[in-house]
Amino acid sequence: MSESVRNLLRGVPAFPDGLPPFDPAAAPDSPLDLFTEWLAAAVDDGVPAPHALTLSTADDDGRPDARIVILRDLDERGFSFATSSDSPKGRQLQAMPWAALTFFWQPVGRQIRVRGPVTQGSVEENDADFRRRHPAARALVLAGEQSAVLQEGESVSAAVERELAGIDRKGSPTWTVYTVAPERVEFWQADAERRHTRLRYERAGNGWRREILWP
Ligand SMILES: Cc1cc2nc3c(=O)[nH]c(=O)nc-3n(C[C@H](O)[C@H](O)[C@H](O)COP(=O)(O)O)c2cc1C
Repeated sequence: MSESVRNLLRGVPAFPDGLPPFDPAAAPDSPLDLFTEWLAAAVDDGVPAPHALTLSTADDDGRPDARIVILRDLDERGFSFATSSDSPKGRQLQAMPWAALTFFWQPVGRQIRVRGPVTQGSVEENDADFRRRHPAARALVLAGEQSAVLQEGESVSAAVERELAGIDRKGSPTWTVYTVAPERVEFWQADAERRHTRLRYERAGNGWRREILWP
């Protein structure tokens, strides 16, 4: 079994040829500006789902948990995503309001890591985000508790269909925008010769300290 998995993995490339250059000396003072530059380049280059990120949280025992969510926005407050407050991740963030975010853009060999404290949106912000979602996505949120065990005989489709009736008049008591205020942001650029470049920004007073890390 292990032998066959090793065979399967042998020769699978992590990155394509023709990776973009990255000169940390020319990077902007703020990681939010560099993130925006890299995101725009990823969108231009057709990187699949560059707004999908791994959200890592800790449970009550301090054990890590992680899953993919979608980046909803980035402004001076930080990186925002949205989910139900009664999901496992929502409960974890209530108890331990810190998170790590990881983006991986394989076609350009880039990884971005963000860490920081998490705040919740106001009732108005949460409601506005909920109303921007597709009706089917809103109905899914209202149809059942995210990550609860599906009981025998329960049908996701039937529950969603029920909620879709009059969906535009319905709000959600649990839909929440969470914003990670970055304390630390690392930009990682793969290099064909394995001389990867890493630039880490850390908050220092009102500005940012920048350091290059050993790959
Ligand atoms: C590409 C992709 C995007 C996703 N986006 C979201 C999202 O924005 N919000 C969300 O609650 N779940 C999203 N999910 C589902 C989560 O990965 C996860 O299954 C769900 O939120 C339950 O997580 P939890 O049990 O840790 O709370 C997404 C999954 C994928 C694969």
